[in-house]
Amino acid sequence: MNEITRDYIQTYIQGLIKDEDEELEKFRENCIENHRPIIQKEVGQFIKVMLNIIKPKKILEVGTNVGFSSIFMCKALNKNVDILSIEINEDVCNEAIDNIKKFKCEKNIRIINDDAITALDYISEKFDIAFIDAAKSHYDEFLDKILKILNPNGIIICDNVLYKGLIANDELVTKRKRTIVRNMREFLEYVSTNERFETSIIPIGDGVALIKVK
Ligand SMILES: C[S@@+](CC[C@H](N)C(=O)[O-])C[C@H]1O[C@@H](n2cnc3c(N)ncnc32)[C@H](O)[C@@H]1O
Repeated sequence: MNEITRDYIQTYIQGLIKDEDEELEKFRENCIENHRPIIQKEVGQFIKVMLNIIKPKKILEVGTNVGFSSIFMCKALNKNVDILSIEINEDVCNEAIDNIKKFKCEKNIRIINDDAITALDYISEKFDIAFIDAAKSHYDEFLDKILKILNPNGIIICDNVLYKGLIANDELVTKRKRTIVRNMREFLEYVSTNERFETSIIPIGDGVALIKVK
């Protein structure tokens, strides 16, 4: 049961998305079979459209996992992009490096194996877009640090901001999830009300926030 949109709507939207890259689709299917937490298809399509509008030269990603979204973004821009992705887990990081080589994206995608909270303090290059897809309790900290390395008029896209609907409905929140929910609600409140940002919360996938820094 999908708590963000009705299943039939999600199935319909996903059905409209053209699979242009057979190798990438096989990679997606393999990730799903192996329970890898990769971006959902309609979220990928949303990102692809945004990338084609903005045509960023440099993308920062927080949360690489096995590299699916990095490779997806690299291909969406026909490899005319430089992506830096941060991943805390060494094992998935190594898998991501292998996958990036398989897709011949090693000239475009670099991985940092570190906690993003630490890494974002020593990264000195600047980015046009940041994609946050990591520990949901820390989005506010990621954002603060990213703002220092984002070019003027930068865009931040965040995945999982509605977290299976919990963020919008107290009845779904168990004791164990209270901290994540409280932190994410504070984050969404902040990016929605602070005059520094123009924000849209989009109920696709697990919930996406599109944040334009003014
Ligand atoms: C949802 S997955 C990322 C999926 C990937 N973006 C994709 O769609 O292919 C989240 C990843 O963030 C990583 N992560 C969690 N907390 C992190 C942190 N503080 N710093 C860096 N990576 C983190 C996890 O290990 C996990 O691999």
